[in-house]
Amino acid sequence: MELVTNSTGATKVVLFILIVLSLASWCIIFAKWYEIRRALRVTYAFSREFAGVPTLERAAQRARDTGGPPASIMERAMRFYIETLGMKLSDRSRGIIAFLRCNTDHHTLALLSSHAPGFHHASFQVGSVDEIAMGAVRMTEKGWQPGWGLGRHVIGSNFFYYLRDPWGSFSEYYFDLDYIPERCAWEPRDFPPEDALYVWGPSCPADFGENKEVWT
Ligand SMILES: [Fe+2]
Repeated sequence: MELVTNSTGATKVVLFILIVLSLASWCIIFAKWYEIRRALRVTYAFSREFAGVPTLERAAQRARDTGGPPASIMERAMRFYIETLGMKLSDRSRGIIAFLRCNTDHHTLALLSSHAPGFHHASFQVGSVDEIAMGAVRMTEKGWQPGWGLGRHVIGSNFFYYLRDPWGSFSEYYFDLDYIPERCAWEPRDFPPEDALYVWGPSCPADFGENKEVWT
């Protein structure tokens, strides 16, 4: 302490700056630690709620009892991805489907209302409509069954072509998805169900929205 008291003015200024920087670093470390703890708490609560069979069964039973889609489960999942993981809502058809993004693509994740967890489809971006057609022909030649398309989606505006996956659900080629710049003042839209799926294309398969991972 005596050393500090007897030091020059310049040394005292440097020491003061170092103390301030050190305190600021600790504040940042503590804030990050708190943020991570909070995210972990929410994540564990989410996985307990959605991965726990008894809870999910109860949620599914409630949905069956009320005769409607378990939209509240989807809404809660949507809040988790937005509030905890920082994704943004791009568009939705309320209670049915929500499209979320984590970059400039219109969506990187879509949540579809269902009575149980399940994976509906993965989508693979290609460089043109030609490439969609080439992929579709090649897959059909290799024995894969067509699913739906070629068409153009309303939400996201992308061209699509679906093939059946080995579990009866779908796998999609897409091109020309909407681009949302990082600083764009994009306002999520809420589409009525009858105007949410496709602008043009063949009729949608009757089982398109089914969750093929539900066994009962
Ligand atoms: Fe898709």
